Amino acid sequence: MRLQNKVAIITGAGSGIGKATALLFAKEGAKVVVANRREDKGQATVEEIKKQGGEAFFVKTDVSIWEDVSNMVEKTIEKYGKIDILINNAGVVRFSPFDKTTEEDWNYILNINLKGVFYTIKKTIPYMINQGKGKIVNIASIAGLVGFEQIGPYCASKGGVIALTRQAALEYAKNKININCIAPGVIRTEMTGMLEDKQQLMFYQSQTPYPRLGEGDDIGYLALYLASDESDFVTGQTFVADGGWTIK
Ligand SMILES: NC(=O)c1ccc[n+]([C@@H]2O[C@H](COP(=O)([O-])OP(=O)(O)OC[C@H]3O[C@@H](n4cnc5c(N)ncnc54)[C@H](O)[C@@H]3O)[C@@H](O)[C@H]2O)c1
Repeated sequence: MRLQNKVAIITGAGSGIGKATALLFAKEGAKVVVANRREDKGQATVEEIKKQGGEAFFVKTDVSIWEDVSNMVEKTIEKYGKIDILINNAGVVRFSPFDKTTEEDWNYILNINLKGVFYTIKKTIPYMINQGKGKIVNIASIAGLVGFEQIGPYCASKGGVIALTRQAALEYAKNKININCIAPGVIRTEMTGMLEDKQQLMFYQSQTPYPRLGEGDDIGYLALYLASDESDFVTGQTFVADGGWTIK
């Protein structure tokens, strides 16, 4: 198993990409800390992991609240004594034209998608420094690399995550802490509920050269490589998994 006895915190693991990653990591031997804002969803992920014979527990966490992030990390240390892997996956999106986007929209998106990543890294890194090793994977988006209409704060937040990844990776490479980023294209999850509309589905598929859209596991397997010892010499990078959206 590729993550035998590793302790992995995964934020937003109650659904979509985070849940797929949590199930995969548990199968590969990791003890998974399911951190989610919604308790019902987080607990459901823990139950599924246990059903498949894995080890996991849930911590109710809103990544935009410092006290919650502190509690998430402290509970992990209390239970497992270490943190090997942090997957910063929690994220939200709202659609609106730029001039109709409110300050509240901006703060909501940036606080979760970008400040949340700052908080979790800030709180986790001292433990990883002490351990002499660590793996952090930030889930950004191709919206941090190319423009998308109607999601200004989301694009800015994901561009920020990509920049923060490079910066933090540079600062902590000497501590053998690898910090990388994944930029997914369109993945079928709760976030992409618009795909239930046939016209929207056809539009997003038409923009994706590969003949299907993404699934949670498409990102989970890349996260697995970046969280495992196999990627020790890889840091500060952004890996695009988008079925070819950005190569056109
Ligand atoms: N689905 C896509 O097409 C796509 C594309 C690119 C990037 N992403 C990114 O992938 C990540 C996962 O998204 P998804 O598609 O699986 O969506 P999702 O809505 O299924 O999952 C997001 C999860 O994060 C949780 N969450 C939201 N705000 C939170 C907070 N403040 N604190 C803790 N948990 C919180 C939600 O409860 C949910 O379980 C996000 O960062 C998203 O921006 C998704």
